[in-house]
Parts: sequence; structure tokens; C-alpha cells
Amino acid sequence: MTNVKKNTNKYKLDAKEQFLIETGISDNNGIIKPRMHKKYKQISRFTEILSDKLSQSGAANQKRVKAIDIGAGKGYMTFAIYNYLVKNNLDPVIHAVDFNSDLMKQGNETAKKCGFDNLSFINDFADQYSGLTYYDAVVSLHACDTATDDALFMGLKMKSKIILSAPCCQKEVLLSLKQKKSLSKFVKHGLFLHKMADIMTDNARVMLLQSQGYHVDVIDFVASEHTQKNTLIAATKKRGKQPAFYDTYKSYKAEMGFEGIKLEQMMLDEGLLS
Ligand SMILES: C[S@@+](CC[C@H](N)C(=O)[O-])C[C@H]1O[C@@H](n2cnc3c(N)ncnc32)[C@H](O)[C@@H]1O
Repeated sequence: MTNVKKNTNKYKLDAKEQFLIETGISDNNGIIKPRMHKKYKQISRFTEILSDKLSQSGAANQKRVKAIDIGAGKGYMTFAIYNYLVKNNLDPVIHAVDFNSDLMKQGNETAKKCGFDNLSFINDFADQYSGLTYYDAVVSLHACDTATDDALFMGLKMKSKIILSAPCCQKEVLLSLKQKKSLSKFVKHGLFLHKMADIMTDNARVMLLQSQGYHVDVIDFVASEHTQKNTLIAATKKRGKQPAFYDTYKSYKAEMGFEGIKLEQMMLDEGLLS
């Protein structure tokens, strides 16, 4: 696992792109609205990192690239990725999943206006989405709490080449930490407890990804002024299963005193950890 600050593919998202105007990131003159600058920065950087991973994994040499965005919301990032792939002659098929039906309807209308024919917004819960075929890349940007686990699991189950996920609102480990008397003696500030839980959750996710033969980079993908939730887990499939990482994960859970996370349970149910 490494910390990577820079990537090699320089990518500039043109503020005049129709999808940016349609989704309200840019105004009608193609100028980024001041309040949308942070989101613009996030989706530009995320797309830039994805472009690097597509090159490194060989997916950029395919004619068709399939990706799924979990917890897509208004689809800012979904559109950015689709747009990038079209501009790079990669013939994309992209599915976006979110349980917010209004946003999915709106997303499909915008996709139609932009002529993004192979982009579909699907109203579903991330862990119930049954349209699974193979996706080269599974992405999620701030999919709340365990929706991030759902995204990671989808990628692991399909053995996707690339899994990119910027987590947020991690709550599972936080509950265990709050109940730990030995910890509450020393850690009095809720903010510290939240930060500890975020790191512990994401560290657990990294080990589980590694157990399936993924190489994982953990990156601050944008400066914290663009979002406080700026950690990106970037995983690429490199080899077969590596059970030693699951052994380490189990020791880690025991040592740190938490029950486990949804990703582990889904992997157990699917037989990925045996
Ligand atoms: C913070 S928003 C992020 C939206 C978008 N990815 C972005 O960065 O602009 C989180 C989105 O995840 C969706 N979501 C949360 N939990 C979900 C779940 N279990 N299944 C499907 N969607 C979920 C919410 O409806 C919301 O649109």
C-alpha cells in the first residue's frame, strides 16, 4: 500500500461541457459557478486518477469500457467519467445506481439531452442491484457509510480491474469505539473518535481488498479545502487471492476491538474468504 500524490495522465475538464451546464456545475456561459467549484475539482481529479488506472490496467486498450457508479446522486462524477471515455474513443457503457428515484430520473433525462446513449441511471439499493454483469471499473464518490462496502464488494465479486472509492460517513466501527470504556478514558473529543473510526474502517477495507489480490493505493485525492472527505481507496487487480491479508485483518479486529464491517460479512456470505 502506498501514498500517491501525483498521477501521470494530465486531464483538464472543460468547464463548457454540456453536462456541466445541465447539472448546474457551470452557468450557461460555461463558467464554473463559485459554489460548485469544489465538486468540479473532485470530479476532475477523480476522473484523472481513473484515466491513469485505466491505462495501467490495460483497460484503456479495450474498445469498450464498462463502469458502474454506486451512490451516484446527481451523477456529476458519472457524467464526467462517461464524457472522458467518449472523448478518448473508449466506447463506454456506464450504469449509475442510487436509491433516490428522483435523482435517477433526472440523471436519465440529462443523459438523453447530452446524447450519452450508453449511460443509465438505475433506482436501487446498492446491495440489491441485480443487473450485475462484468464492469471493468467500480467507482463511488462519497457513497454513505456501508454503501461504500457495497461498492467494494461488487468490484471484488466481479474481479473488476479497478475499484475506486472515496468513502464517507463511516459508522460501523464508530459504534464499537463508542462502547470501549478503555478508550473513552483517554479520548474525550468526539471529533477524534470519528477520525479514528474512519481510519480504522478504511484500513479494514484495504486489508480485505488485498486479500483478493488487489494492489491498493490510499490517496488524498484533492486538497482538504475541496472536501474533508478526501481519502480515495484506489485498488487494481494484480493477482489471485492472498489469504494472509485476511489473517492479518482478523488479528487487527481483535486487537482494535471492533466486530467487523459489512464488506467482510458480504465476502464471507459469497465464499470469497474461504
Ligand atoms: C453524499 S451523496 C454523493 C453523491 C455523488 N456520488 C456525488 O459525489 O456527488 C451519497 C449518495 O448515495 C446514495 N446512497 C446512500 N446509501 C445508498 C445505498 N445503500 N444504496 C444506493 N444509494 C445510496 C444517496 O441517495 C446519495 O445520493
